[in-house]
Amino acid sequence: MKTTGVIIQASSRSKGNTEKVVAFFQQQTGFDVIDLNTKNIGHFDYEFNNKDDDFNALFKQIAKKYKTIVFATPIYWYTMSGLLKVFLDRISDFLFNEKEYGRMLRGKKMAVISCGSDDEIFEGFTMPFKESSNYLGMHFLGHVHTWIENDSIPELVKTRVNEFILQLNKKPIIN
Ligand SMILES: Cc1cc2nc3c(=O)[nH]c(=O)nc-3n(C[C@H](O)[C@H](O)[C@H](O)COP(=O)(O)O)c2cc1C
Repeated sequence: MKTTGVIIQASSRSKGNTEKVVAFFQQQTGFDVIDLNTKNIGHFDYEFNNKDDDFNALFKQIAKKYKTIVFATPIYWYTMSGLLKVFLDRISDFLFNEKEYGRMLRGKKMAVISCGSDDEIFEGFTMPFKESSNYLGMHFLGHVHTWIENDSIPELVKTRVNEFILQLNKKPIIN
């Protein structure tokens, strides 16, 4: 089956809790996985001093290849990881330069997996993703919250992830 989706794993450890959920999600969908923790991606700056790091080629590959982008982030301090925030900031590079790549995001789908310490997730977590989707002309498909217990994925979480995967093929949510 042709892969049309990618999971962008944004944990500060490549084999941590988020990765367990990403591996499960990957098995169910066949989506490719990109581990941001293995990439050298510097902060956004207005002089584009980091333009030769890993971001430029990585973003172009994502923009050209995938229709659905799933961000998988641990919850760090109630929000997305720093790795993911830097990745999102760097999309701005393509709103200033080589804008044709930024425009390629239009019409793509965005979804989010969070991985926290338990079932609790605070209001406001999804706002940056929804609003960024709107700004970029993407369709926000929603969010599933997960956690790990005793080094494995609880059955409740597996059920929720499976339900979430079914939603990905349905109509986009109107924000
Ligand atoms: C810096 C840091 C901040 C965290 N903040 C939160 C938080 O605000 N809410 C929460 O539920 N868990 C928090 N946690 C726990 C992680 O979200 C949880 O352990 C997660 O499963 C870790 O995934 P990882 O192994 O991929 O990093 C935090 C962990 C770290 C390291």
